[in-house]
Amino acid sequence: KGRKMFVGSNADFLKGVVAMNGLPGDDRVEVCFAGRSNVGKSSLINALTGRKGLARASNTPGRTQEINYFTLAESHYLVDLPGYGFANAPLPVIEKWQKLLKQYLSGRVSLRRAFVLIDSRHGVKAVDNEIMSLLDSSAVTFQVVMTKADKVKDKDREKTLDQVREALSKHPAAFPELVVTSSEKGWGLPTLRALI
Ligand code: GTP
Ligand code: MG
Repeated sequence: KGRKMFVGSNADFLKGVVAMNGLPGDDRVEVCFAGRSNVGKSSLINALTGRKGLARASNTPGRTQEINYFTLAESHYLVDLPGYGFANAPLPVIEKWQKLLKQYLSGRVSLRRAFVLIDSRHGVKAVDNEIMSLLDSSAVTFQVVMTKADKVKDKDREKTLDQVREALSKHPAAFPELVVTSSEKGWGLPTLRALI
């Protein structure tokens, strides 16, 4: 017990949260996965834990609409967040969950690190910079995780990485190292597990 950190039933769904007063106690170390809708947050949690259906993933942007808590061993929470940016949902609904997202990212004491996911095909967009600035001003350290690396050619990937590094240099709360991943191929997962 406790030795298989990420594997099998050592990671489990706890609850979906729709308001700040629904958050669980802050007695565990918490890391969250933030990023634009459809960037691959839920897929990454599934890949990390080796459980395909743990977090619900889909091709429809706006799939995750609550703050979803997963327990990891006895000590950690993995937190799957709703996406920001475009989403396939009614505007009032989007506004409600965007507000919750911002409250969470700026006001969760036990949040040790945010992983900000960036699509390897698209790089850092204006909405990403907005979220990163929120993390800067809330003193939440964050690390960028590049997703869907399997979808780009090597030379295009390098160009995007340069753009991301340039963007990160303007954010004091950012760790300079990028983690390049593919949930599909399993790339970068050991690195990310070690970081968590
Ligand atoms: P929201 O909950 O809507 O914000 O999206 P999300 O960020 O949780 O994205 P999700 O994990 O649902 O994935 C979106 C789509 O991208 C799905 O169709 C996934 O199968 C696909 N996808 C995610 N990661 C990868 C990857 O590493 N490689 C490839 N090729 N596709 C991926
Ligand atoms: Mg999701």
